Amino acid sequence: MMKILCGTSSQNLGNDLAIKMNVECVHANAKRFPDGECYVRIERDLLDREIVLVQNTHPDDNFVELLFMVDAARSLGAEKVTCIIPYLGYSRQDRRFNPGEALSAQVMLRHLESEADRLITIDLHKPEILSWVKGIPTMDLHAEPAVGRFFRDSGVDLVLAPDKGATKRAEEVGRLIGVEYDHLIKTRLSGSEVKITPSQIDAKDKSVLIVDDIISTGGTIIAATNELKRLGARSVIAACTHGLFIAGALEKLKMTCDRVVSTNTLESEVSKISVAEEIAKVI
Ligand code: R5P
Repeated sequence: MMKILCGTSSQNLGNDLAIKMNVECVHANAKRFPDGECYVRIERDLLDREIVLVQNTHPDDNFVELLFMVDAARSLGAEKVTCIIPYLGYSRQDRRFNPGEALSAQVMLRHLESEADRLITIDLHKPEILSWVKGIPTMDLHAEPAVGRFFRDSGVDLVLAPDKGATKRAEEVGRLIGVEYDHLIKTRLSGSEVKITPSQIDAKDKSVLIVDDIISTGGTIIAATNELKRLGARSVIAACTHGLFIAGALEKLKMTCDRVVSTNTLESEVSKISVAEEIAKVI
């Protein structure tokens, strides 16, 4: 019998996945020594030969915990370890933008490949990076169906992507909700500042849902919301897969948007959309 083993970063998603799959959810005993180092122990009678480990690799501490969880599980006889990485840290450093830079995403994947028997990620910024992993099966799942289910019958009139590259996401969510979709034009000015080009989109009196893969500083969504409000939108809801919400982003977003919600790949007070069903389908 397979069991779910969830790390400290993914308690909510791990539990939900276990319920969907009707299997037991095992919580590793993971804690920190006074010097900050990680300690992991799994009780022997809690494990099984086949485990599905759910744990983020962001921030770095969670990656160390994941490595120790795999080691602890293997020491107790786990033979097949599927690693579900809800949010793969460093996935945006997917090329050497300047000479001499570390190719961080590749380093993370190389280490995961050496530990896991199967790797499943969710909404990678560029799913193509999984082609670097040659030795084990990999799969990147999409959160759009979960986002679409969540907003069905919620009164949304229009789904928008904040930039052209994300149009497919808006199209899929729009199709699932049964409303139109479009995209804005975004230019990144700095790490936290973006410019949304004035748009011709008809947002007047509409309830608009902006969908993105990641909200980090919130700069993208705030600029997009301001433009939509200028165009007369009745309400603006922001939904993302990975809610990083760094440096007070969530507070700023709450003051700008009518609602902010994310999936539970990263757990926070707004991670109300579960991607457990998407994972359960492929396990
Ligand atoms: C960029 O291409 C991504 O899809 C997100 O739009 C971006 O990471 C969001 O970052 P921030 O919240 O800092 O604007």
